[in-house]
Amino acid sequence: MYGLARPLLFRLDAERAHHLTLAALDAAHRAGLSSMLGGAPAPLPTEAFGLRFPNPVGLAAGLDKNGAHIDALFALGFGFVEIGTVTPRPQAGNPKPRMFRLPQHRAVINRLGFNNAGVDALVANVERARRKGVLGINIGKNKDTPNDAAADDYLHCLARVYALADYVTVNISSPNTAGLRDLQEAQALQRLIGSLREAQERLAAQHGRRVPVLVKIAPDLDDGGIEAAARVFGDLAVDGVIATNTTIARTGVEADATAAQAGGLSGAPLMDRATTVLRRLRAQLPATIPLIGVGGIVCGADAATKIAAGASLVQVYSGLVYRGPALVGDCVEAIRARRDTADRSLAPER
Ligand code: FNR
Repeated sequence: MYGLARPLLFRLDAERAHHLTLAALDAAHRAGLSSMLGGAPAPLPTEAFGLRFPNPVGLAAGLDKNGAHIDALFALGFGFVEIGTVTPRPQAGNPKPRMFRLPQHRAVINRLGFNNAGVDALVANVERARRKGVLGINIGKNKDTPNDAAADDYLHCLARVYALADYVTVNISSPNTAGLRDLQEAQALQRLIGSLREAQERLAAQHGRRVPVLVKIAPDLDDGGIEAAARVFGDLAVDGVIATNTTIARTGVEADATAAQAGGLSGAPLMDRATTVLRRLRAQLPATIPLIGVGGIVCGADAATKIAAGASLVQVYSGLVYRGPALVGDCVEAIRARRDTADRSLAPER
């Protein structure tokens, strides 16, 4: 089905194609036709952060920034859907065009800049949704909020979405908000995550429910940066880490004219770097802190590679642009096959 639509969509500007696809998904869902697009994979229950996921393959943040398509997205078979990044106040993002395909590389470059309708609009959307699955809400800061006041933006969003989220992701790794990634530096990170952890405990007592808080990091951290971040995450006992966001590097796509576009690169060329960061974090974090592997998954084998590198769950975004929703089932089956092999090798010999 997606194979038929893809050539038409690829003739359109990437952001226009994105909105058309979401409108079509909503229509298919309302008409009860979602199963024609791929349908739900057989369950592969997975536990992480104290949550039970129907399968370990999720939708990465950024595709449904306002949580306006939650039910149509769950109907594609995702084990979890992460909406956002949302900021306290609505903002327009960067001027268009700001999203580009690199088809030869199965990659995307975007510099959207947290375009979103604000946290109140997202909350209203989530309240309307039937949300048949685990829902993550990814939070950020407004462009015009200086970094020394960034914590207020994150704290505002955390409090606002707390009652509705199954987990919350703190996004400090998008390359399209000037200075955002500086929040990953050890001292700034310690301060920001420290105050969010305190707020999380307060909110847990207030609501009688503990909502896991995860942190999403960039693939562009060097070894020292990864080590410093891992130390902070361990010391503050965050619930989980998502590795990674898009990259500002252009490794592997240098010869493509579109590579000169500013923004974050995602899709196949990100796979190796994102997996390296994931593996290093796994080696440096306490075993009690699970990881979500994201970045460059374009086929089932890539998803299995992330699990082998230490991820408990995976997420996809750019791979969907090239493969369509069939990618979800492919990833679930590849992870299932890997688990079966691991189980067999653990079974006692007869
Ligand atoms: C993103 N991504 C993203 N991440 C995030 O935390 N908040 C966001 O708002 C967005 N927005 C966004 C828009 C677009 C157009 C893309 C392609 C990506 C990053 C995304 O969640 C993921 O981390 C990366 O894209 C890497 O995964 P893939 O795309 O290689 O599977």
